[in-house]
Amino acid sequence: MSSFQVIVGSMLGGSEYVAEACEETLTALGHQVELHFEPEFAQILSKNQTWLICTSTHGAGDYPDNIQAFATDLENSEQDLSSVKFLTIGIGDSSYDTFCYAAKKLNKLLLSKGCIEIVSLITLDMSEDIDPEEQSQAWLNENKDHL
Ligand SMILES: Cc1cc2nc3c(=O)[nH]c(=O)nc-3n(C[C@H](O)[C@H](O)[C@H](O)COP(=O)(O)O)c2cc1C
Repeated sequence: MSSFQVIVGSMLGGSEYVAEACEETLTALGHQVELHFEPEFAQILSKNQTWLICTSTHGAGDYPDNIQAFATDLENSEQDLSSVKFLTIGIGDSSYDTFCYAAKKLNKLLLSKGCIEIVSLITLDMSEDIDPEEQSQAWLNENKDHL
């Protein structure tokens, strides 16, 4: 069993529903889960567990406002983050050149800080007729042995 900190980046609320669907699946798989809709880096870091990043992209490849401070604090952090395990869900729209850029940026940043990616990033394209909650849940279940 792992303990997950779910770090949510959302402007319009869609990614919050995806995060809640992930919480349901992770709990059903026997894990502990804490959701962060206003993620605070220092507080989340003190828990030293597995991080599930679940973020949309806004502007022209920008972070949603609520996750901006988390990303800045992570970027400026000089702490050893090599014990942090993570996985990332990007929610975006492929009609933008900067498709899921916020999730990709955060993923790269975590890797550059020495964090361990336990499942490769998934991107969900809202320009297609998809159910992002269902896709995220299926992705977690497919990768349950790595969680
Ligand atoms: C003003 C605006 C800018 C956007 N910019 C991007 C972008 O640069 N890249 C991308 O992949 N999606 C972009 N999107 C699409 C959103 O990421 C997508 O609609 C997502 O589902 C919103 O999730 P949220 O409700 O959690 O904020 C943009 C949407 C809006 C309304």
